[in-house]
Formats: sequence, structure tokens, C-alpha cells
Amino acid sequence: MGGIILGIESTAHTFSFGRVSTDGELFPSFSSLFRPEEGGIHPREAADHHSETTSQLLDRLSSSENFTWDSIVAIAFSQGPGLGPCLRVGASVARTLATRLSVPLLGVNHCVAHIEVGRNQTGCIDPVLLYVSGGNTQVIARSDGRYRVLGETLDIGIGNMLDKFARSQGIPFPGGPEIERLALAHPSMGIKCLDSVSLPYGVHGMDMAFSGMLTSATQKLSEGHSLEQLCWSLQEHSFATCVEVAERALAHTGKSELLLGGGVACNERLREMSNLMCEERGAKCHWPDKSYCVDNGTMIAELGRRMLECGIETEIMDSAIDPTLRTDNTEVLWD
Ligand code: ATP
Ligand code: FE2
Repeated sequence: MGGIILGIESTAHTFSFGRVSTDGELFPSFSSLFRPEEGGIHPREAADHHSETTSQLLDRLSSSENFTWDSIVAIAFSQGPGLGPCLRVGASVARTLATRLSVPLLGVNHCVAHIEVGRNQTGCIDPVLLYVSGGNTQVIARSDGRYRVLGETLDIGIGNMLDKFARSQGIPFPGGPEIERLALAHPSMGIKCLDSVSLPYGVHGMDMAFSGMLTSATQKLSEGHSLEQLCWSLQEHSFATCVEVAERALAHTGKSELLLGGGVACNERLREMSNLMCEERGAKCHWPDKSYCVDNGTMIAELGRRMLECGIETEIMDSAIDPTLRTDNTEVLWD
């Protein structure tokens, strides 16, 4: 095998090492997920988790099949956006490894990495991306050398909304998968039943909003509706919001591929709704494996690979983290 690019992900709750070969073969990541004992994610505690799990993850990586340190040709890391203390741990490990191995360092835009791993795995070429994660909810399309944000959440990310609702019911982080399970446990209902647990709909032009939906769902619970009913209704409303904006983006850009990415893209109902919308307008819907929807080191390695191919490298002095980096801050020089 030729060289490999190592990718390090540490934007929030997940610390992860993954790799990709120089010709684009993806390898599974080694990850550790920080789960707070109570409450939301405290950046300092998540960063401590990342520091404490570094050597264990590196051990697992180095004893994995066909792995050798001398095959590494570059180290890529998430430079932003994300939680400062968490990003700093990943960046320090990346700088240390790049210096020690005398290979280039690549500071990677985490949001763009979600897109590139999806393009690699699914083979789609020029998609509209529906990027739905904890912290981010964006509809993105490539235009004029950048991935442009056509629409995004005006308040909280869709995953964050699901996690908050789950936490208010004693369901630990991450709440999304459990909400999916509870929604499925709810006997299938027609549109009339959606009316009985209707929530404020959050489309504002090309932008979205989820906090009103969250407040209203919590209120409806106290009015006596069941948890399963509200999990189902929350999914129907919030996914319809995203799919509507994604459809408008397809119509405006004239593109014919939709790519799902981010942790919420693991959800089967969102996949079903997106697929249905695409089928109805003659477009094709794609999503990567679940392990590449959630945060993972492999996607960071994959974007690093594309950057390296274009001759991009990050000098140590330019490797400071950027917690507020935006999707469209990064110039896209590759195909
Ligand atoms: P980003 O930094 O890109 O915003 P993130 O830190 O939120 O990413 P991800 O791993 O991309 O991390 O996404 C995690 C989110 O995905 C959590 O909010 C989690 O509840 C949600 N999620 C995971 N699986 C599912 C599922 N099956 N259904 C709904 N939501 C899910
Ligand atoms: Fe992410």
C-alpha cells in the first residue's frame, strides 16, 4: 500500500483518529465519545476526556491491521469550527505527530470534511449537502470555488434540539438515536394525528429554526401527550423543515444530487423523507455509512488528502485553532 494520511477529529464530544490512503481508500476510525454524567457537554470536561484517551486511541490505531507509522505522509486535524478546549487537544496531538514524523500538517475545516467523506464514499459529484449535526444545520452547495451556505439554522442545530428534548426526559447524550427508537415505537399514525401534536414549523426562506419546536414539544408533554408521540412529531416536523429547504436548494441551483451528512443523517426516517423528495423531482439522494455521518477522524483525513493533492500544507505558525470557522471560509481547489 502507498502512503496514508492520518486524520484527527476533536471538535466537540468525539475524539477520533482515522486514515485514508493517498489513492482515496477510507479506513474505519478509532473513536472515543465523551458522555457527560449529567447536563450538556462542558468544553473543559470534553477536552480532558480527549487528553485522557489519546494514548489508548493511538495504541489501537498503531496495532490495527496494515498500519505502520512510516507509511504516514501527512497529519490532518480539525482546525474548526468547534469548542476551543477540545480543538486545542487535537491540534496539539497533530502538531506533535507531524513534527515527530517530519510530515506536513494540514488544518482542516470540519464542515467541509463532512462533505468530502460523503462524496468519496457515495461517488456523488456535485451535490447539495444537507448537513445536519448537533451544532450545525446547513444546506450547502458548491459554487465559484467554495461550498456556499444557502440556508442554515437561525438558532440551535437540529441534533442539539433533539439532544435537549431527550435530556429533559432523562435520556442521556446522544439523544437522537433514542428519539428515533421511541418514534418507531409509536404506532404509525396518519396526517390527522400529526395535527393533534402539531408543532411550530421552522422554515424562514432558506433558513431554519428549531427552538420554538423544542419549547412547544416540551409543553405538549405536560399536556398529556405521550413521549413516543412527541418524538415522532418532533422528527416529522424538524426533518420536513430540512427537506423543504434542501428541495428549494436543488431547485435554485439546478443540481440533481442530494448528499446527507452529520450525525442526524444516521436517522432512517430522515433518509426516507429525503429520498422521497429526490425521487419526486428526479434527483438522486446519497448518504454515507453511519460511521462516516457522525464525527470521525477518517473524514478529516479525507479532506487532508484532497488538500495535499492541491499542494496545500499548514505551517505550524498558521495552525492555531479557529472555533468560529465557517463552511464558506475554505477555498475549494480540488475537483
Ligand atoms: P458538528 O461539529 O458537525 O456540529 P457534532 O459535534 O454535532 O457535529 P455529530 O457526530 O456529527 O457531531 O452529530 C451528533 C448528533 O447526531 C447528536 O446530536 C446526535 O443526537 C445526533 N444523532 C446521532 N444519531 C442519530 C439518529 N439516529 N437520529 C437522530 N439524531 C442522531
Ligand atoms: Fe460534525
